[in-house]
Amino acid sequence: MRIAQVKIEKNVQGGSALTRLPNGSVCFVEGALPGESVEIEIIEQKKDFAKANIVKILEPNLKRRTPPCPYYGKCGGCNAQHAEFELQIEVLKQIVFDLFLRTAKINLPQNFEIHHGSEWSYRYRAQIFANGFLMRGSNVAIPIEKCMVLSENLNKKIKETSLAKKTYLFDNQSEKFLGKHIHADESVFFQSNLELLPKLIEEVSKAAGKGELLFDIFSGVGLFSAFLQNQFERVIAIEQNPLCQKFAEKNLGKNCEFYAMDAEEWSDFSGCVLIDPPRTGITNKLCDTLCKNKPNKLIYISCNPATLARDTRKFLNAGYTLTNIQGFAFYPQTFHLEMMAVFL
Ligand SMILES: C[S@@+](CC[C@H](N)C(=O)[O-])C[C@H]1O[C@@H](n2cnc3c(N)ncnc32)[C@H](O)[C@@H]1O
Repeated sequence: MRIAQVKIEKNVQGGSALTRLPNGSVCFVEGALPGESVEIEIIEQKKDFAKANIVKILEPNLKRRTPPCPYYGKCGGCNAQHAEFELQIEVLKQIVFDLFLRTAKINLPQNFEIHHGSEWSYRYRAQIFANGFLMRGSNVAIPIEKCMVLSENLNKKIKETSLAKKTYLFDNQSEKFLGKHIHADESVFFQSNLELLPKLIEEVSKAAGKGELLFDIFSGVGLFSAFLQNQFERVIAIEQNPLCQKFAEKNLGKNCEFYAMDAEEWSDFSGCVLIDPPRTGITNKLCDTLCKNKPNKLIYISCNPATLARDTRKFLNAGYTLTNIQGFAFYPQTFHLEMMAVFL
C-alpha cells in the first residue's frame, strides 16, 4: 500500500480526478474535486497510470458538500453528490472543454453553456432491482427507502418492485411535453429528464429551422420528429428497435415515414439530419455515408461527450463547420452530460 499527498488538477470523463504523483506519473483519484489537497492510497498501479482512493482530505474544494443521500457511495447510481450542483456544472464544463481539445482538436467557445433544471427528483425513467438499485461495481441490489433523484411517483415503485429487475417510465402515461402526448412505454428508449427535455427540444427545433426533408436517425418513438414535423415537408425516421414502430405511428403525422432498420444500411441522406445515437456514438460506416452524402445540416444529440468529440473531428475533417454546441445537465449527481452540436 502506497500513501502520497497530492493536489488535484481536474476531473476527467467519468468523474475521477487527475493528479500527478511525486514522480510525475498520472494518478486517478476517486471522489476528489479540482484544487483539493488530499492524502491518497494507491490501489492499482498500471503501466502508464495509477488509481487511488482518498485517505484524508487535507484542503477541500470550497464547494465540496456532505452527500445528502444516505446511500451515496454504496448505491451505484450517483457519483457527484459530494460536489454542490454549481460545482458539478463547472466540472462538466471543464471535462467537455478538455475532451474537445484533446479529441476533436478544437477550443469550444468561451460562452459554451450548460442548461440545467432541478438537481433532485428529476428522473422519470429508472431500472429498479429488488426494492432498490444495484450496488456500486456489483450485481447485487441494495434496498432503498427513497431515491433523491427519482420523481415522487417512481419512488413509490421502489417499494412495489420486489422482482429482480423492472424498468419504469414516467409518473403517469398521460404525461404531456410542450402540449403533446407522446406515446411510449418502458420497453423502449425514452429520455429520463422530463423537466429539461423541453429546453433540448426547443434548441433542436430552432437549430433545424424549416425545410423540405428531415431525417431523424436513432429516432426511438419519434420524439424529436413529433415536434419538428410541422417545420418540414417530409420526415424520415429511422430506428432499429421494431417495438418503437407502434408508438411512432401514433406520434407522427402523415408527412412522416418510419423505417424499423439499422441506420447504417441507409445510403442516401440529404436535407437536415438529426442524429441521436446511443453512448457509443455513430459507427465508421454511418459516419462515412454522412460525410459522402454531405446533407446541408447535421444536428447531433449525444449522451456521451467523448464519442461526440470523436465524431466531431470526423465531421470537421469532411468539411463541416461546428456552428452551435450546448450542454444539457440531464443527469445531476453524476458526471454524465447530454449535448447538442450543429454542423453546417
Ligand atoms: C439515445 S436513443 C434516442 C431515441 C430518440 N431520439 C429519443 O430521444 O427518444 C438511441 C436510439 O437508437 C436506437 N438505435 C441503436 N442503434 C441503432 C442503429 N444502428 N440504427 C438505428 N437505430 C439504432 C436505439 O434503439 C434507441 O432507440
